[in-house]
Amino acid sequence: MTDTTARRTALITGASAGIGLALAEVFARHGFDLVLTARRADRLQAISADLATRFGCRVHTIAADLADPAAPARIYDDVAKAGITVDALVNNAGYGLPGLYVDTAWDQQRDFLQVMVTAVAELAHRFMPGMVQRGYGRIINVASLAGLVPWSAGHTLYGASKALLIKFSESLALEGLPHNVHVTALCPGFTYSEFHDVNGTRPLVSQLPRWMFMNAQIVAEQAYDAVMAGKSVYVNGRINRAIAQLVRYAPQWLVRGQLRRVARKFRKV
Ligand SMILES: NC(=O)c1ccc[n+]([C@@H]2O[C@H](COP(=O)([O-])OP(=O)(O)OC[C@H]3O[C@@H](n4cnc5c(N)ncnc54)[C@H](OP(=O)(O)O)[C@@H]3O)[C@@H](O)[C@H]2O)c1
Repeated sequence: MTDTTARRTALITGASAGIGLALAEVFARHGFDLVLTARRADRLQAISADLATRFGCRVHTIAADLADPAAPARIYDDVAKAGITVDALVNNAGYGLPGLYVDTAWDQQRDFLQVMVTAVAELAHRFMPGMVQRGYGRIINVASLAGLVPWSAGHTLYGASKALLIKFSESLALEGLPHNVHVTALCPGFTYSEFHDVNGTRPLVSQLPRWMFMNAQIVAEQAYDAVMAGKSVYVNGRINRAIAQLVRYAPQWLVRGQLRRVARKFRKV
């Protein structure tokens, strides 16, 4: 029987699938108890039972839609009411919104910003003060390689939202540094998950070579190591790191031209 008296707790958003689920497993394997949130309560229940059995951890689940502006406060209150102290926060929930900006209803763009940016910022704002006070905290904001490369037409706010998370994390990491609160912007490239099924782009991304994709489990393990090591920005995988470096140092006119060509081939907005 695992000793659960002095265990730390990680809260993970978007824990019902993909990278979030893999992160839940990694934190559990490293001895954390868990608070898991997403919209699909049935999935959270099944995952909770499975992780509790396999790792002997305590798992608290909260069904919440982060497009609802009241959700971050509700999650915070729910955790407080349950007497749980959050030591690690993983802002992972996310999705893609295909299509041209002008062709997409504002309500969809508004909800997208709420999930991808505002909820992330609010959850960090609510949970980080306690971490600072206690002198221990770990925050992972799941951004993307998309936040580091020039962006193309369509999926308009996706790259912008991830670029914001990277800058936000860099700044927050410096704020947390004197208090042993590590903040990491995680930048995966293409990763096997439900992401492209949810946004309907699976047939297009399936045409990409397999070497461009990583497994969610590997991405999650690297994320855990990066935040524990205090890296403020971490790009997963050698290929993605090479792309990030190339994009940074090559002439920008060349980079933009190449990316536009690739995007036109693989993305019908
Ligand atoms: N897969 C990739 O290629 C890739 C690459 C770079 C970055 N990322 C980023 O990685 C993160 C995780 O994505 P993934 O690839 O693991 O995708 P996924 O398999 O589709 O998982 C997305 C998770 O987010 C949750 N979610 C979505 N909308 C939500 C909402 N409105 N409220 C609460 N939870 C919501 C989903 O749960 P419910 O549906 O149950 O709510 C699910 O648990 C995202 O931030 C994504 O942008 C992915």
